[in-house]
Amino acid sequence: MKGIILAGGLGTRLFPLTKITNKHLLPVFDKPMIYYPIQTLVNAGIQEIMIVTGGRKSGDFLSLLGNGKDFGLGHLNYAYQEGEGGIAQALGLARHWAAGDEICVVLGDNLIEKNIKGAVDDFRAQAGGAKIMLKEVHDPQRFGVASLDGEKVTGIVEKPSEPESNLAVIGIYMYDERVWQIIDTLEPSERGELEITDVNNWYIRDGSMSYEVLDGWWTDAGTFESLRVASNLVAEGGANHTDARAGQAVAEAN
Ligand code: G1P
Repeated sequence: MKGIILAGGLGTRLFPLTKITNKHLLPVFDKPMIYYPIQTLVNAGIQEIMIVTGGRKSGDFLSLLGNGKDFGLGHLNYAYQEGEGGIAQALGLARHWAAGDEICVVLGDNLIEKNIKGAVDDFRAQAGGAKIMLKEVHDPQRFGVASLDGEKVTGIVEKPSEPESNLAVIGIYMYDERVWQIIDTLEPSERGELEITDVNNWYIRDGSMSYEVLDGWWTDAGTFESLRVASNLVAEGGANHTDARAGQAVAEAN
């Protein structure tokens, strides 16, 4: 399985912090934001990783991360997103590299406390399709929101004004190799972007979407409030990310 981190965009919700740099290079407590999603993938046993970036200071990712040595990696792959076409459009830029494999996608501003290795292993054992991770939140209007019927996800609505549940779809997605053809069929949403929620709803209609409720805390870090919360959660401990080199031990154990 290949890992893809989406770290483009203009980060307008964090303006002026993002006036001269990329959101994912901003600090979350003691590390640049991008360190956390890389560690999430490495901790899950995924070592082939591509970072899709763009916007301001995209070259700084190379200076910061190099070949991924801080994470016990020997190599990192990069792709460049021109403009702002949305999460699904950014993902499409990894196609030439990842086609033919299953993928795990992590949004570059999503941080988790624990390890998703169990969910990744379950997806590997699943007969194709897709898997999303859900988390109960107090402000579902900010996210993609899932409706459930027992073990099945019945639909996802992007940023609903009247959410049907308090289960947010977090920014970690697993897909089989059909994802590239699905992206080809997408039309831009009202905000002019190719939406990852449309990809997920395709798999739901196909009957091949599974889900898991995430254990431990999760936050994004794309607004002033969530960036503050993310820094506090990491500072207060509990994140398995606090030492980038911890990933090396995990990688070697795999
Ligand atoms: C994106 C997705 C949304 C998801 C969220 C998680 O929203 O569109 O479905 O719940 O990430 O962080 P965005 O942050 O791009 O508004």
